[in-house]
Amino acid sequence: MAQCRRGTLALLEGIDQKTFCRQAHPDFSPVGWHFGHIAFTEAYWILERSAWLEPVFPEYHQLFAADGLPKEERQNLPTLAEIYDYLDTVRTQVFKYLETAPLERQERLWRWLIQHESQHGETIAFVVQLHRWQLWERPQEIWVRGHAAHIPSSVKPSSEMMEIPAGEFEMGNNSIDAMDNERSRHRVYLDTYWIERYPVTCGEYRIFIEAGGYQNERWWSVAGWKWLEENPVALPLYWSDDPTWDNHPVCGVSWYEAEAYARFVGKRLPTEAEWEKAASWDSIAGRGHTYPWGDATPNLHHCNHDNTVGQTTPVNAYPQGQSAYGCYDMLGNVWEWTASWFGGYEGFTSYPYRGYSQAYFDGQHRVLKGSSWATRPWAMRSSFRNWYYPSVRQILAGFRCACGRD
Ligand code: AVJ
Ligand code: FE
Repeated sequence: MAQCRRGTLALLEGIDQKTFCRQAHPDFSPVGWHFGHIAFTEAYWILERSAWLEPVFPEYHQLFAADGLPKEERQNLPTLAEIYDYLDTVRTQVFKYLETAPLERQERLWRWLIQHESQHGETIAFVVQLHRWQLWERPQEIWVRGHAAHIPSSVKPSSEMMEIPAGEFEMGNNSIDAMDNERSRHRVYLDTYWIERYPVTCGEYRIFIEAGGYQNERWWSVAGWKWLEENPVALPLYWSDDPTWDNHPVCGVSWYEAEAYARFVGKRLPTEAEWEKAASWDSIAGRGHTYPWGDATPNLHHCNHDNTVGQTTPVNAYPQGQSAYGCYDMLGNVWEWTASWFGGYEGFTSYPYRGYSQAYFDGQHRVLKGSSWATRPWAMRSSFRNWYYPSVRQILAGFRCACGRD
């Protein structure tokens, strides 16, 4: 928890009060709200619902509860210093309670809480990026952190596809860390299919752009074309024309753009099951692994995550992170849109509240798999499921293509 918190607080560095309170986009709360919400959620689940203490900072309840105020009414925030104090005061009481807490009965909740903070940490990271891009401060100009020296960028990966032979695999996760929506683990049979070894790169996507892909209805679904007419864009949100980015994954596309590109190249998006099998299944051992590379917790050699690089990296930069089927970048770098709608697996039960997952089983959210350069390690595993409306482009999302009968 302390390690996770250090990363959360590091996100505050260089943030002024104005950026803290300002909404970068109507779909996302100001970054300051997320910090307050992290403290609120910890106070609520641990101090109120586990230690049964009187509510702390009751005046913050409405502001920082997820169902308290609409996003546009979250801009009147306490100062940076006040929020910092809120986080710190709650954390001190939580650690005091931890000394005597019955962890054997509460382990799942504490692990959920670390992942809750991790997920809001990622949202803070991309909302901060959004502010910077709106100020035309592109990453290659101002904030490449210079941690990426070991990363090759001269070798151009191709849109090579890996064959995944027909057979059963195990999907989902029953471990104590797993979110409600990952349960229960279950066997799934898939026919043979092919999935790209790498996420789609900017170099590949440029061909679609230059071929007039955004101007040609032919590549777009009915819903996709309607979205494009209402949101006239012609480039991914986090696009750079710098040719040194040709090897980086496309980042900042809606699901509709991913779908259109896949049709343009004669492919399709993978289903969630296809993605997870390619990431986690070891057909020789006849078992799955927590991560594409095996069961070792993520480190800097496996993939680009945890904000250490602070932007995307070439898709072939992490050979040690390959899955058993040879796919790169299944974790880290960019989230990947899948063809699947978000829903519960058989026997689904909400944890710790309906609003975590179940409220989004509405047939309107698409599943994203993997994780991004800003994902904290606690929220990374091949079974992890993320979800957003197909129109959202602000998240750190790209995609890879598949083909074969789905
Ligand atoms: C899984 C990233 C879509 O941030 O909206 C955080 C996670 N749920 N607090 C979000 C979540 C409750 C969620 N996402
Ligand atoms: Fe939350």
